[in-house]
Amino acid sequence: MTTSRIKPAAKQAPLKITDTTMRDGHQSLAATRMRTQDMEPIAARIDRAGFYSAEVWGGATFDVATRFLYEDPWDRLRSMKRLMPNTPLQMLLRGQNLVGYRNYADDVVDAFVAHTASCGMDIFRIFDALNDERNLKRAHEAVKAAGKHSQLCICYSVTEEGRMGGRVYNLAYFLGKARILEDMGADSICIKDMAGLLAPPDAFTLIQALKKEVKVPLQLHTHYTSGMASMTVLKAVEAGVDIVDTCLAPLALRTAQPALEPLVVTLRGSPRDTGLDLNELIAIGEYFETLGPYLRQHMADGRLAVVDPRVLTHQVPGGMVSNLISQLREADALDKLPAVLDDLPRTRRELGYPPLVTPTSQIVGVQSVNNALFGRWKVISSQVKDYCYGLYGKPPQPIDPNVREMALKGYARGEQPITGRAADELKPEMPKAREDSKGVAKDIGDVLTYALYPTTGMQFLKVKYAMAQRPAEPAPQTPAAPAPMAQVQASARARSFNVSVDGKTFQVVVDPADGGGARTAVRAAAPRPAAARAAAPAATQTTAQPAPTNGHKLGDGESPITAPMPGIIIRYVAAEGTAVKAGDTVVVLEAMKMENALPSPADGVVKKHLHMPGARVPRGALLAVVGAK
Ligand code: CO
Repeated sequence: MTTSRIKPAAKQAPLKITDTTMRDGHQSLAATRMRTQDMEPIAARIDRAGFYSAEVWGGATFDVATRFLYEDPWDRLRSMKRLMPNTPLQMLLRGQNLVGYRNYADDVVDAFVAHTASCGMDIFRIFDALNDERNLKRAHEAVKAAGKHSQLCICYSVTEEGRMGGRVYNLAYFLGKARILEDMGADSICIKDMAGLLAPPDAFTLIQALKKEVKVPLQLHTHYTSGMASMTVLKAVEAGVDIVDTCLAPLALRTAQPALEPLVVTLRGSPRDTGLDLNELIAIGEYFETLGPYLRQHMADGRLAVVDPRVLTHQVPGGMVSNLISQLREADALDKLPAVLDDLPRTRRELGYPPLVTPTSQIVGVQSVNNALFGRWKVISSQVKDYCYGLYGKPPQPIDPNVREMALKGYARGEQPITGRAADELKPEMPKAREDSKGVAKDIGDVLTYALYPTTGMQFLKVKYAMAQRPAEPAPQTPAAPAPMAQVQASARARSFNVSVDGKTFQVVVDPADGGGARTAVRAAAPRPAAARAAAPAATQTTAQPAPTNGHKLGDGESPITAPMPGIIIRYVAAEGTAVKAGDTVVVLEAMKMENALPSPADGVVKKHLHMPGARVPRGALLAVVGAK
């Protein structure tokens, strides 16, 4: 007997499902490594399954396709459209950041959205890491101009309490944001819970209140990470959410979306029945199982736990913790993890409580790593400087004035932050992108690939047109893709720490990554700015393998600039022969999606650049030499 059938309320329409298997599923679990050739054989069958939409693109898919898979992301989109004519295709768009990690100029946003729409995208899910709606505006307008569905997002975050409420992320905050997004003309609104922090009762309260506040359809995107997501989705369904995101079982759970199959059975016979065929879903899932041997190379298997209950205490997204671990491992300072996790809530507070999502999760995370390695706010990444200047938008709360002052001291754009829309500071970028990519780029898609990622994008285009060899992936630990949580397989050397964050204690296991006995404290291969150098303990520089020097032998009075972690040379700021002072930036190295400005260790002249922009270098590689005048 199904009592719920007696009085079907107006809001109790069938629940609509967005399938995220081919985007967030493998992005969350398998470092985004699913290839177009893996998707094509099953696409037509997914198309017939009856989904509201299929998320197939955006997020890290564009970056990983060009950077690691060497396949054209535009071709994937066109192929999916051809194979899936009946199901609206959906993408994740990082607002003014598009599918990159910085704000792009408006002309890039316009060109990107127009071309994406013409290649077959139907629903654009647009978010901003700071929930600054000014960063959604241009992309939203471009989507509407292309005649497509614009779904605007509110990133879900928590203040410090671990539940909805507190002085920042309370119900009034979310209702206020939803009101703004509807007024902007959103076709639908998505609650984007990237860290799996939305607790089931809060989901009920939030969705119920939002249904009263706005008229447009509501969609819920959550992650299973903390273990709450299936319960959260059910409570949201009870509260009347219109659409939810799920994955097919093989790519569900852990840090991905909740699984669809149990939800289908749970709602069967109720007014919210999805109408989807369970046996067909299982059959489609069986196909994804066949990708196991390939995807498992990029999947985490170290931990017993499917859920990461630590997220419930420290609110740091699982993917971010694994990023921090690989970053510290590359800097050979894994024993600093507890200090980093301790620093993180404090740094986040000082930076105005940004939600932790790309790119703010990297910005906050990298700064906490710097704070733990070199002392608090001694080394400040260029992204933090940009953030404090206002280039990422307006944080939910004001930035600590002392931190802002330290970050903007000597900042090239000025020490006084901007208050307007960040992208208003940017001049058009497409003319230069067209000019720079001339002779390589053959269409607007190529130009956009270059405009988004000048270094790795150009490398991709040269490989695509057989003008360069495809470089091998340097190491199993890839810097760009967020590795899944359970990367660390504890060994006999693992040590356990009790870490206290905001009065709560939890346990962290730290395991030395690359053999060897006990490690001393900080051991960075890069020269440190004077202040940090003086403060840091004297540490010996022992590298496991000799650093590649491109044949260069250091002469008398010459100082090396070496890579603190594996990365890609973005550019040399100081040309050969230029006079530099100690602390001046000589070379910019991209690692962990962050641009790291590497300073000169001494006053002198830049004698030699050892690499070309675009070169991938291992940790400890000699990048440049500074010598006496
Ligand atoms: Co997600």
